[in-house]
Amino acid sequence: MSQPQVIYLKDYQVPAFLIDQTDLRFELEATKTLVKARLTMRKNPESHSQQRALFLDGDKSLVLHRVAINDQVLSDKDYSRTDDGLTIHDVPDSFVLETVTEINPQENTALEGLYRSDGFYCTQCEAEGFRRITFYLDRPDVMSVFTTTIEADKTTCPVLLSNGNAIDSGDSEGGRHWVTWEDPFRKPAYLFALVAGDLSHVEDSYTTMSGRKVVLQIFADKKDLNKLDHAMTSLKNSMRWDEEVYGREYDLDIFMIVAVDFFNMGAMENKGLNIFNTSCVLASPQTTTDLGFQRVEGVVAHEYFHNWSGNRVTCRDWFQLSLKEGFTVFRDSEFSADFNSRTVKRIEDVSVLRTAQFAEDAGPMAHPIRPSSFIEISNFYTMTIYEKGAEVVRMIHTLLGPDLFRKGSDLYFDRHDGQAVTTDDFVAAMSDASGRDFTQFKRWYEQAGTPELTVSDEYDPAAGVYTLIIQQSCPATPGQNEKLPFHLPVAVGLIDDQGADLPLTNGQTTQVLELTEAEQRFEFTGIHGDKPVPSLLRGFSAPVKLRYPYSRDELVFLMQHDSDGFNRWEASQKLGVDVLQSLTAAYQQGEPLAFDARLSEAYRSVLLDETLDPAMVAKILTLPSEAYLSELVDEIDVDAIHAARTFARQHIANALEAEFIAAYERCSSSEPYSPDADSIAKRALRNLSLAYLVETEKPQHLSLARTQFDNADNMTDSQAALGLLVHSNDEVAASEVLAIFYERWSEESLVVNQWLSVQASDPKLGTLNKVLALMDHPAFTMRNPNKVRALISAFAMQNPVNFHQLDGSGYAFLADRIIELNALNPQIASRLVTPLTRWKRYSEQRQALMKNELQRIMDSGSLSTDVYEVVSKSLV
Ligand code: PHE
Ligand code: ZN
Repeated sequence: MSQPQVIYLKDYQVPAFLIDQTDLRFELEATKTLVKARLTMRKNPESHSQQRALFLDGDKSLVLHRVAINDQVLSDKDYSRTDDGLTIHDVPDSFVLETVTEINPQENTALEGLYRSDGFYCTQCEAEGFRRITFYLDRPDVMSVFTTTIEADKTTCPVLLSNGNAIDSGDSEGGRHWVTWEDPFRKPAYLFALVAGDLSHVEDSYTTMSGRKVVLQIFADKKDLNKLDHAMTSLKNSMRWDEEVYGREYDLDIFMIVAVDFFNMGAMENKGLNIFNTSCVLASPQTTTDLGFQRVEGVVAHEYFHNWSGNRVTCRDWFQLSLKEGFTVFRDSEFSADFNSRTVKRIEDVSVLRTAQFAEDAGPMAHPIRPSSFIEISNFYTMTIYEKGAEVVRMIHTLLGPDLFRKGSDLYFDRHDGQAVTTDDFVAAMSDASGRDFTQFKRWYEQAGTPELTVSDEYDPAAGVYTLIIQQSCPATPGQNEKLPFHLPVAVGLIDDQGADLPLTNGQTTQVLELTEAEQRFEFTGIHGDKPVPSLLRGFSAPVKLRYPYSRDELVFLMQHDSDGFNRWEASQKLGVDVLQSLTAAYQQGEPLAFDARLSEAYRSVLLDETLDPAMVAKILTLPSEAYLSELVDEIDVDAIHAARTFARQHIANALEAEFIAAYERCSSSEPYSPDADSIAKRALRNLSLAYLVETEKPQHLSLARTQFDNADNMTDSQAALGLLVHSNDEVAASEVLAIFYERWSEESLVVNQWLSVQASDPKLGTLNKVLALMDHPAFTMRNPNKVRALISAFAMQNPVNFHQLDGSGYAFLADRIIELNALNPQIASRLVTPLTRWKRYSEQRQALMKNELQRIMDSGSLSTDVYEVVSKSLV
């Protein structure tokens, strides 16, 4: 195998040719689809290239039937083909290029390009899927107007969709028909989409702020038509929110969403024709959990917001991916914060960031939010690009405040509308609009790794001066040994011994300190009385790790008094971490485990405080996850962490049993299910209480779970009870509820996925054999990414105890699946490697086993660029 090529940002050159107009005609057949392309092209006046040859990207799977330039058919000496494209040796300055290409959607298991999902035809072109459809300049800075004609069988494909507006249609021979779509907005090929099949839809409309009426349609399989209301409501809320918060109006007369079951990612923002994984669009109380409802809302918003942050203003090259993704994640998380509890949303986002993204930043695939090289761009749709990218935009928002930030985003959209630009352009707009200097801030785009802040303080009561001393550093990451200091906002408050916020230098109770040096002192004057307790990094104002030597008593105090909701939760987490780390150490040394009652007493007072938002109570009473605890130590001892956390949960459950029973009852409701914030909050606390009660292993609490399972009128309560029973030691109850659940939901693919996940994530020993058996279950197929995630990823990523078994069976199982999937679906295969990339964090024994499996994958034959990049970088 030839070594895959590394692509560098520094090698960027403007395209030598441009495409002004793209006319496509698809003649759809399952195994033999013809794609006729007519491209109106010219030399790019901005290119210095003198080349007369034209190179077009095109996958080796394309069968080329015809090439013509200005109606002259070319012979095979006029062009040459390689594995990655087509070179036409000599082309004029401007010309029309025609090609006829044959592709096979039926056999496309990679789900990139044109493929079939349960009988529907659909496309996925980001990042480089269009080159699997036809020969093209498949790069985001080549933007063209598209017309697309789709011709297909009328019975199997009554619905034919593409971007923009339908402008013409008709019948053709042999029971076939066609529709022509025109998208007036110039776009890169990655935003192209086509859908065809026997789809049903719901329809609504939206009137924009300037009074234009937009038709809204959501398409899905007929049996799912009853699960589209929530997506439609979310869409209309998103459209209104983007007008109100960003002044951004929708621009076409129609906006369509299509739900497909086979999809590599969550969803895709194709212009005017978003394509969604069913898991991110379908929602009904019976089949979807509260989390699922919130996910649908967030993803619908995310894809809709891309219409401006991504489509109207797009990326110059794929190194700029975070330009659209970081910004759009920031936009959707603010949207969700506005429509739900802001603090709870922040806690959820930070939890994900601190487990998954921090781990990525500490591993072999660490990269800055604007990488400087890659082998396979599909590997860079990461937590870093998305979530850390969003944190970087959030820091700009924090530094500027909402008004200047809005001025900056207005300038960005106005200045770059219709262009393909860079993250530098984004920051420049923010800087120009605000007059602020972001030179140092831009290091966030260039340096990988999670910065670490070490904070200490001094207090001089006589002078009334309190001083915070903040040091920053950042660990080395691959290719980057030395890091320069970051510019970052640290939001702080000072709390007096009565629990009240002290007024700070800015006259407010929260002040944003701007850290720019490796070490910096910040003085607060006019502080009297006892030494205040600092509330640091309020709202998690920067994506960093922060150390300050809080005592456990101070953490309990902050849990009760901090006026910043996020930091109240953060104090509970820090206390939980401290307690669990002591327990882990005791377990490792074979000492008896002793529980610090301060934690359960703090929980008790939170649980008894009925004025608190139940959703917040549920968050505070959730111990730091095993994943987060793993992130905090140098060497991860899977079994010790699991044992410590289980011990703590049992202890808390027994100590607060009466309070949990009361909370469970208090949060029960006779109202019909509704996914509103208040009801979601109550269910969260109720199910958390049930989980603790089941932890006592008392039969009456297991019966309570069973009663809830039997009586639930919604998936949130049903699934919560199912998980508790399946993970309990009551084997009989477990197999009973699993059978009932499957029986009830076997026709609902997404629900069956939850059924698979609940089994794959069971921490009891022996789960691997159950997972192996489930691979042969009719509900499972390796071809559907949702099934792979539900079973294989759930086992490898949500079941540390079983995955990390010391006989290496979990690692070998995963490696086998990666090798299998490498041939079927490289993107999904590559994502599955993640747990093995973390080998350096485990004991020597586990390291050896994990590395062994990575090597076995490496040696297994023809690896995709996707898998090759992750495995080879992990073995360094
Ligand atoms: N651009 C999509 C999003 O984040 C994600 C995606 C990437 C989907 C690549 C498919 C393929 O909104
Ligand atoms: Zn996105």
